[in-house]
Amino acid sequence: MKLTYDKSMITEEYHAKAVEAFKALHNGTGEGNDFLGWLDVSISNEEIAKIKKAATKIRNSSDVLIVIGIGGSYLGARAAIEALSHHFFPKNVIFAGNNLSSDYMNDLLDFIKDKDVSLNVISKSGTTTEPAIAFNILKKWMDEKYGESAKERIYITTDKEKGILKEQADREGYETFVVPDDIGGRYSVLTAVGLLPIAAAGINIDKILEGARKAKVAFAELENNACLEYATLRNILYGQGKKIELLVNYEPKMHYFTEWWKQLFGESEGKEGKGIFPAGVDNTTDLHSMGQYIQEGERHLFETVIHIENPYRDIEIHCDEKKLQFLDGKTLNEVNRMAMQGTAIAHTNGKVPNLMVTIEKLDEESIGELIYFFEKSCGISGYMLGVNPFNQPGVEAYKKEMFRLLGKGE
Ligand code: PA5
Repeated sequence: MKLTYDKSMITEEYHAKAVEAFKALHNGTGEGNDFLGWLDVSISNEEIAKIKKAATKIRNSSDVLIVIGIGGSYLGARAAIEALSHHFFPKNVIFAGNNLSSDYMNDLLDFIKDKDVSLNVISKSGTTTEPAIAFNILKKWMDEKYGESAKERIYITTDKEKGILKEQADREGYETFVVPDDIGGRYSVLTAVGLLPIAAAGINIDKILEGARKAKVAFAELENNACLEYATLRNILYGQGKKIELLVNYEPKMHYFTEWWKQLFGESEGKEGKGIFPAGVDNTTDLHSMGQYIQEGERHLFETVIHIENPYRDIEIHCDEKKLQFLDGKTLNEVNRMAMQGTAIAHTNGKVPNLMVTIEKLDEESIGELIYFFEKSCGISGYMLGVNPFNQPGVEAYKKEMFRLLGKGE
């Protein structure tokens, strides 16, 4: 993967800040340093084997796996599965417990009516309301359908020893997977949190880990480090009043990758009255909805474009229509690429700075690489901003008010 940007943007002052942040991350001397387990991509071979075994069992026994989790407990898996699957063929991994919609839950119950189902409940704390309710409802459904053997179909990913989910798993005899103590939700996709659902979707997790480990080596040193450069650029642009970053894709499969990225940066940096607001657009679709604003609205935006060089399959366009003659003989991907280049020029001219992250192909390895690249960039960027990128104290506020309204006691 390659980061492209206007080199003249980098200043000595911000480079020095980035170096300091990089060292704090590597030496474990910054805030939140007990949550740096993801830096090493150190999942053991035993854990990988256990994940693969469970994934095979799920695929053999179930039409669908329902992944119950919210925030960092599902977004990474969903991002990877969407990015690496067919756009239209139905997926065998679906998601619940990431909202409180009764229509969603009832529709899900309709959908699974005649299906064989497994559940993977993912919650580090074990107490999060949305997944707890979804599990409560779906567990009843499982017990009614499968009786005693329901437990063979329920997999719990949670803390290694504490929490009600762990207690319940031990009591009922569910197979468990561990969310490591030193890895927070939004940095956990390369643990069992993300890897079990991804493997259950039939995706090669070894290759994802290979990509992440390749990135770990590539971004280990201070020199020529794209993570350091991206973090530096973000902070420079933020200092210039660019308070919103749009992650831009030209590939619909990347929609959920953007959702994962939004959470990663939003929850890591948005605190103490600071932080770039992370948003996203799916182009060219959104050029026809958000394009006007991006081109001519308030100048507080910059864009990071994910450019995928080669599609898996291309298709040639044949046009007899006079007005469309200029397209005749071109391929769809060529047109998509020109749209991307043209948009980057127009937006840059319109004072929306553009950074570009290029990958050769949208495959397992590049997804692993991108995950690691953004995680490490986020750690450096958060330290540069002067916040703890590994906590999320603000998430508690809505829960407190919701519990008060629901009459929950202490
Ligand atoms: O990144 C985070 O830490 C959060 O988004 C959590 O993943 C999310 O709040 C869910 O928490 P839990 O896994 O404890 O249910």
